[in-house]
Amino acid sequence: MNVILMGPPGAGKGTQAEFIKTAFPIPHISTGDMFRVAVAEGTPMGIKAKEFMDAGKLVPDEVTIGVVKERLAKDDCAQGFLLDGFPRTVPQAEALDEVLGAMGRQVDAVVDIQVPASILLERMTGRVTCKACKTVYHLKFSPPAQAGVCDHCQGELVQRSDDNEIAVVENRLKVYEEQTAILADYYKNQGCLVAVDGNRDTKEVFADIKAALEKI
Ligand code: AP5
Ligand code: MG
Ligand code: ZN
Repeated sequence: MNVILMGPPGAGKGTQAEFIKTAFPIPHISTGDMFRVAVAEGTPMGIKAKEFMDAGKLVPDEVTIGVVKERLAKDDCAQGFLLDGFPRTVPQAEALDEVLGAMGRQVDAVVDIQVPASILLERMTGRVTCKACKTVYHLKFSPPAQAGVCDHCQGELVQRSDDNEIAVVENRLKVYEEQTAILADYYKNQGCLVAVDGNRDTKEVFADIKAALEKI
């Protein structure tokens, strides 16, 4: 089962990926999470990626495509994968088709989580993430029981560095419209696009996604 989660920043890709993982045994591959690990570790790739992420811009295709190719070659992807935040440009989508084609595989479903732009800003600026287990919270919509502390592991809750400046958040939304939204047509033409209304309770959103993935 080769699945892609697409949708603008703050749409709920990471949130839904957590639910999907519990229902379908496929690895969750978030390029944003992979870049954040590289930034935290200070690797050469992380140092390069940070520049772009902090400005709300896309990391160059050659870097991103290389990272994903390497990840998809790992054993745990043999039965499928859940890509979150990749592809984000037409060249990335073409590169993915090429890689999968060489393995005799294809994209089975692209879940497009749709949320009005007016909602997204508040979702991102209110998001906090556990430093240890990476669970995502929202200060208003899904707050932790105790402020600043993770419900699951007591880890510290922190804000992402690309969420704390309105100009950066707005640029991420603009970049999505300019470079990524067009991929909905790309996958519609391939017959695998599934549009889901993401402006509802997270469980309702997941119920629709689950029903769509069970049909694959
Ligand atoms: P990435 O980490 O992918 O960020 P993003 O696309 O901006 O998406 P987010 O993670 O912000 O949102 P999400 O949809 O996961 O929402 P979440 O579930 O957390 O990328 C970061 C950066 O890395 C990019 O800007 C770029 O620089 C680089 N990068 C990554 N991939 C790349 C690529 N392929 N090419 C080039 N560069 C790349 O939810 C958001 C908040 O809303 C949370 O607080 C959550 O609790 C809340 N929430 C979720 N669902 C609901 C709901 N239904 N109701 C109420 N609240 C909700
Ligand atoms: Mg995310
Ligand atoms: Zn935690």
